[in-house]
Amino acid sequence: MPRDTDRREFLKLSALAGVGAALGAMTSTGCAIPGRRLNAAPATPFAAPPLDVVRIGFVGVGGMGTHHVRTLLRIDGAQITAVCDIRPEHAERAKKLVMDAGQPAPTLYTRGERDFERLCAKEDLDLVFTATPWRWHVPVCLAAMNNGKHAATEVPAATTVEDCWALVETAEKTRRHCVMMENCCYDRAEMLCLNLVRRGLLGEVLHGEGGYCHDLRGIKFSPHGEGLWRRAHSETRDGNLYPTHGLGPVAQCMDINRGDRFDYLVSMSSPSRGLQLWQQEHLAPDDPRRNEDYVLGDVNVCLIKTVKGRTIYLVHDTNLPRPYSRLHTVQGTRGIFEKWPSRVHIEGRSPGHGWETLEEYYAEFEHPLWKSEAVKKVSGGHGGMDFLEDYRLIQCLRRGLPLDMDVYDAAAWSAVSELTERSVADRSRPMDVPDFTRGRWKSYPPLGIVEA
Ligand SMILES: NC(=O)c1ccc[n+]([C@@H]2O[C@H](COP(=O)([O-])OP(=O)(O)OC[C@H]3O[C@@H](n4cnc5c(N)ncnc54)[C@H](O)[C@@H]3O)[C@@H](O)[C@H]2O)c1
Repeated sequence: MPRDTDRREFLKLSALAGVGAALGAMTSTGCAIPGRRLNAAPATPFAAPPLDVVRIGFVGVGGMGTHHVRTLLRIDGAQITAVCDIRPEHAERAKKLVMDAGQPAPTLYTRGERDFERLCAKEDLDLVFTATPWRWHVPVCLAAMNNGKHAATEVPAATTVEDCWALVETAEKTRRHCVMMENCCYDRAEMLCLNLVRRGLLGEVLHGEGGYCHDLRGIKFSPHGEGLWRRAHSETRDGNLYPTHGLGPVAQCMDINRGDRFDYLVSMSSPSRGLQLWQQEHLAPDDPRRNEDYVLGDVNVCLIKTVKGRTIYLVHDTNLPRPYSRLHTVQGTRGIFEKWPSRVHIEGRSPGHGWETLEEYYAEFEHPLWKSEAVKKVSGGHGGMDFLEDYRLIQCLRRGLPLDMDVYDAAAWSAVSELTERSVADRSRPMDVPDFTRGRWKSYPPLGIVEA
């Protein structure tokens, strides 16, 4: 006979489960997803029919968007047929790049903040790719998918858990890809590390670390580009605003959503000083930005536990003087890999307790994408991480393959933003990470070592 407290707990949980079922979909852990009516996630990773040519509409051609446009124009089978930006001169600049590459002039959409909706509705496209400020990522992706186009977005895909679910629900309902373009998963050292993990050199992976440590003070106060929108997030939000660069590569080494998943996290933020000091020391006395108040803790740290018990340390540090780092550590039962600085130690291979450089590991274990002749032919070198992420996206769409990163990755990696904010606001209380795959993480296969 259960104890009274157990029984009360059981009755309470049963009642909650009943309400959840009545409200809508259930997660595998029995939590209702308010207002959502999700069917089961696909039994196998989603793939769409192969495309001969990938016709792309690009939304947001500022700094990063223009970089993608240049890259995509070097990839066989990618065609940019429409461009949208609220700044007509940015759209014109992209149009010139497209025409200089020998492609027909793209149709331009420059009638304001919601003109991407007209692009999604009118244009005959396969893919809508967005590199807009964060608040537009979800509206653009939803408009794309609801109009039958695949969606690709810059990072983070979304800033709230609710929006993460909206991406998952819409991708499943419309049977379209929704990919978050996490370029750091394609960097040379991170791909070497993934290859070492796959070949078992690090043993069982138990712990990872990642981060985004980048002194963005100058960029946040710039009168151009990200200075126009990024600083505003520091006025209302305190958590990890940019989790995916550090988290993505570690998540891939841990088979997150493909054998394991994030279970819960806790988070803390340091005091907020960096932007205030910059405000006082760099802005003119009459600059209106002196009146802004910031709440974003300069250093946010977060610990994530996976359902298999593994641990991840994640840090966000963008308001203080410091050299760039994404941390990247993967610790296994047989060795450890680090970047910033890059070094590796593998028991039985490395001398004593010492570190080795990556050089001889590159010679033996370089990821196939980083040494392939096919990539060299298109990129003129071996491309770099930004080239490889766009190359893989186009290649998978043309071959009808599942993408390296899917909508569940976009959701799980991006949800960390709101969950850290909630944990910080509540004395670091643990926050459950939703299972966006609703149990499919148990059967989805790990990401393989893909060839070009
Ligand atoms: N993966 C990376 O390494 C990396 C690097 C830089 C930026 N980013 C991401 O790329 C995105 C864009 O950043 P950025 O540095 O290029 O910023 P940016 O400000 O230089 O560019 C944003 C562009 O979007 C346009 N825009 C704004 N609202 C729009 C709307 N509603 N419809 C159409 N166009 C609109 C702007 O006019 C501008 O041209 C952000 O999500 C950022 O996080 C990623």
